[in-house]
Amino acid sequence: MRLSDNFGRKINYLRLSITDRCNMRCVYCMPADGIDKLGHAEILSYEQFLLIAEAAVSLGIEKIRVTGGEPLVRNGIISFLEQLANISGLKQLVLTTNGVLLPEMAQALKDVGVQRLNISLDSLQPAMFSQLTRRDLLPQVLAGIAAAEKVGLSYKINVVVMRGFNDNEILDFAGLTKDHDCTVRFIEYMPTLKEEDWRSLVVSSKDVLQILHDHYCLHPVDRGALAGPAEEFAIDGAVGQIGVIAPLSGHFCQDCNRIRITASGQVRTCLFSDHGFDLKPLLLPGNVDNVARELQRLVHDKPACHTLNSNTAGYSPFSMAQIGG
Ligand code: 5AD
Ligand code: SF4
Repeated sequence: MRLSDNFGRKINYLRLSITDRCNMRCVYCMPADGIDKLGHAEILSYEQFLLIAEAAVSLGIEKIRVTGGEPLVRNGIISFLEQLANISGLKQLVLTTNGVLLPEMAQALKDVGVQRLNISLDSLQPAMFSQLTRRDLLPQVLAGIAAAEKVGLSYKINVVVMRGFNDNEILDFAGLTKDHDCTVRFIEYMPTLKEEDWRSLVVSSKDVLQILHDHYCLHPVDRGALAGPAEEFAIDGAVGQIGVIAPLSGHFCQDCNRIRITASGQVRTCLFSDHGFDLKPLLLPGNVDNVARELQRLVHDKPACHTLNSNTAGYSPFSMAQIGG
């Protein structure tokens, strides 16, 4: 089975946001006073997520990312991941985390079959880390990365670059790849919260690459079939890789291969489309075929592209924690 949309894009990547809760408050993700949290009854059960995952894999989804909020704060996640990993036909199970709980959970994640982590880390400097995340948890995140390395879980570090905040750390982050076997990815800041001055915060991927090229000898790297929208490079002689992701300035949408399910069971075929579809009423035991049919219909109508670069961007402000970062 092959899931594809109206524009011929093959959709093989599903993101499940299993909670909107988070133990950090990143400035680019949440307003200072947090977000209106979903009530417990609104959040899908693991059984409901599994039903969606089975339907999606039956349609040709090959890669599932579990995300949040912060997915590791949800109770029972390890056995949920184990069940996901056992869905026959699924090729890749990966997880996005802020790393805070990795010191105690990395081994279990590895044991149940999580293949890779994306760890969000936006500053290596304690004061800037605290300013960006509104929490003093840098030592825990660094210990979490060390734990992932120790148990042999491969990982990528996601850095959202923001002008005037962490744009002076680009070379430090890139330098990590010299002796860490990981990928450091620089992501353009996206105006999900629609701050008035958001344009002044954006550092384009082109500018990031310029800074990197001015300092290092880089060569392009080949990427796997299930890879996301990053362009990847490596510093000559380094063990790790560097990626840039350009949701604003790049050809991001034309290669989009993903759909998202929010913690409350809304299907989002584009991050920047307000049109969600509530799958919840269909999530009854044994209803895999109906869910699959609905997913197929929704994917077919996936929008061609976001409208972030137009002045009339037609979406309401949101937190990535509500949709799945
Ligand atoms: N811009 C870019 N990336 C974002 N993320 C969350 N909010 C934004 C934003 N406004 C992504 C980051 C973070 C992950 C959880 O979600 O990659 O690491
Ligand atoms: Fe939490 Fe991730 Fe949002 Fe930061 S970006 S507040 S770690 S969900």
